[in-house]
Amino acid sequence: MSTELEELKEADTLPSVHELIRDRWSPRAFSDRQITRADLATILEAGRWAASSYNEQPWRFFVATKSDPEGFAKLLGLLMPMNQAWAASASVLMLSVAKKNFTHNGQPNRYGLHDAGAALASMFLQATALGLHGHGMGGFDHDRARIELNVPDDYEIGAAAAFGYLGSPDHLPEQMQKMELAKRTRKPLAEIIFATEWQKPLAL
Ligand SMILES: Cc1cc2nc3c(=O)[nH]c(=O)nc-3n(C[C@H](O)[C@H](O)[C@H](O)COP(=O)(O)O)c2cc1C
Repeated sequence: MSTELEELKEADTLPSVHELIRDRWSPRAFSDRQITRADLATILEAGRWAASSYNEQPWRFFVATKSDPEGFAKLLGLLMPMNQAWAASASVLMLSVAKKNFTHNGQPNRYGLHDAGAALASMFLQATALGLHGHGMGGFDHDRARIELNVPDDYEIGAAAAFGYLGSPDHLPEQMQKMELAKRTRKPLAEIIFATEWQKPLAL
C-alpha cells in the first residue's frame, strides 16, 4: 500500500533491530487482495516452529479465509462489533486456543497461552516478511467461541487475529482512521527491563 503510511508506522527502534520487527504493525484497513494458499501455509508453518515449554506445542488455531464465506462469517461473528467493523476487510481470520495440561504428565502447563502467543508472534513476523500484515484481537466473545467452535474444556481460549494486505485507511470510521495514522509508541527499555532488582533498570 502507501509507502508513506508504511514509513509513518515504522517503529523507532535502535537501528540494529531487524527490519521485520521494525516494519510489523497492526493495521485496521486491509485491501481486497487475498492471501494465497501458499502464503497462508507459510505463515502457519512459521507458527508451527515456535518454541514451547517441553515442546508441547499447546496451540491450536482455527483459520478461515475469505474464500470460505461461511467459516469467515463464523469467526467474524465472534468478534466485538468494534473489531468486526475493520476485521471484515481482512483476508484471513484466526483464533487460537491452548491446551491447559502437559501431554506427558497431565500436569497444568502454565505456559500454554504464553506459547500460543509466541506462535502468533512468529506468524506476524512471517506475514511481514511476505509483505502482509497481521492484527491480534482480544476483543471477541470467549464463551461463544468455546461453544460455537466446540473447544474442549482442557483448552483455554487464546486470541483472535486478522491477516491481509494493507488497504487504504480512507474508508475507516474517523476514530479508527486516527489510530491508523498515529505513530507507534513503546515504553522505554528502562521502564520494562530490570537488572536483578524490581524496577532497577538494566544498564545498557
Ligand atoms: C493479544 C492481543 C489482543 C489485542 N486485541 C485487540 C483488539 O481487540 N482490537 C484491536 O483493535 N487491537 C487489538 N490488539 C492490537 C494492539 O492494540 C496493538 O498490537 C498495539 O496497539 C501495538 O500496536 P502495533 O501492533 O501496531 O505495534 C491486540 C493485540 C494483541 C497482541
